[in-house]
Amino acid sequence: MNGSNKRGKVKGRLNVKRSMKMFSKAMKLMPGGVSSNARLWESAQFCPLYTPCTIFAKRAYASHIWDIDNNKYIDYRLGFGPVILGHSYPAITNAIRREEWKGTVYALDNELEVRVSEKIINMVPSAEMVRYSVSGTEATMHTIRLARAYTKKNVILKFEGHYHGSHDYLLYSTSPPYNTKARPYKQSMGIPGAIDEMVIVETFNNFESIEKTIKAHHRKIAAIIMEPIMGNASGIMPKEGYLKHIKELCDKYDVLLIFDEVKTGFRVSRGGAQELFGVTPHLTTMAKSMSNGFPISAIAGQEEIMKLFGPGNHAVTHGGTYASNPLSLTAAEATLNVLKNRSVYKKINRYGTTLMKGFSKILNDNNVPSLMLGHPSMFQFIVTNREHIYNYRELEPNDGGDLFSKIQYWLLTRGVMVDEDYQECWYMCLAHYEQKDASKTIDAFEVAVERAKSSHFKATRFSIPK
Ligand SMILES: Cc1ncc(COP(=O)(O)O)c(C=O)c1O
Repeated sequence: MNGSNKRGKVKGRLNVKRSMKMFSKAMKLMPGGVSSNARLWESAQFCPLYTPCTIFAKRAYASHIWDIDNNKYIDYRLGFGPVILGHSYPAITNAIRREEWKGTVYALDNELEVRVSEKIINMVPSAEMVRYSVSGTEATMHTIRLARAYTKKNVILKFEGHYHGSHDYLLYSTSPPYNTKARPYKQSMGIPGAIDEMVIVETFNNFESIEKTIKAHHRKIAAIIMEPIMGNASGIMPKEGYLKHIKELCDKYDVLLIFDEVKTGFRVSRGGAQELFGVTPHLTTMAKSMSNGFPISAIAGQEEIMKLFGPGNHAVTHGGTYASNPLSLTAAEATLNVLKNRSVYKKINRYGTTLMKGFSKILNDNNVPSLMLGHPSMFQFIVTNREHIYNYRELEPNDGGDLFSKIQYWLLTRGVMVDEDYQECWYMCLAHYEQKDASKTIDAFEVAVERAKSSHFKATRFSIPK
């Protein structure tokens, strides 16, 4: 393998020697060598150089990320979406620097909570009251507890291909094998069988089947939880009128509608997907883009429901040592101050649209049958002969993902990083626009597609030294 040149730009094959060395060490200390399973590029199909593997990051700034082999990439993973402005964005890092000496955990309220809540309530249509947690997982876990308490019903309806975090209640049918008959499909060992009864899994974008299910089971369904844009399934969009249809069903049958906007919130527009599509859910979970990458999540919704989190004999438990951490709130306040300006979204969307159009043309010119899915700020292409993709099962690529994985590899060698999993999206940030990364990315994509079409490499199993 060749090394990288002085500017850190990768030529020819990818040099990830140091990463692989670090990975062998990590494997001995941490299961799988990672702290989050999603970071392991594990299937031969998705990780053509070594499998399993992970690349170790050294630092990230603006739209770029560097690995420990000094390869420099334009980053389109952006930490799985949070970095809406750019890594270490000055407005955020300056605010953090000003506040860091004030301590990091109080176990008391602080004024920032109030200020950030005001901003969220101003920006997000469904938000009448707000509570904070640290991760998206905690937010959805507490939100379905709230929904169960409010409706006094137990079952949660979710959709195939929608991901809501890693707690037991919703870790079903998030990315099942395309041909499985199992529904709900458990995505992890260790989830008690009793919980299977608490979840119903539906097909996204099917107006009739959701209506039939709600009519049949509404007496036991507390809530429908959904990603309004399928951010964990290549950005599949809702059909026209679908979200409205679901909201109407929910109102008619006393079922709460929860939009999980952990990915779409503050990304696809100032007020998230609910503003974009003009459909207001009863409850909303948000995280990621709300703080440009600092650990914080929010639950927001109708006052009457949210108030159950308050005190009282039957109050719904919500809390956590690190909830409303002042540094994360500082980042959230600074981020929302930038994001309240709608021109930021215009820039991000313009940038994303340029890439979407450029990629489509290149795929077309290379006779790769494909569809572009998603929103300009988070999108993906799928190698398929279909004319539309409306649900998870339709996502299966013609070639099982082989061409995508080769393109992903050749993009890495050209200094462009996108996730190895085509079910993830390409994420855009303001820094991509400001640094004018589009033409470099499109050029890299063109070379990657051409190389991928003539590449026949197979994954090499990375042998872990004993
Ligand atoms: C829509 C959605 N909800 C919830 C989560 C869980 O968030 P976290 O990883 O912060 O627990 C994610 C994570 O990607 C997500 O995409």
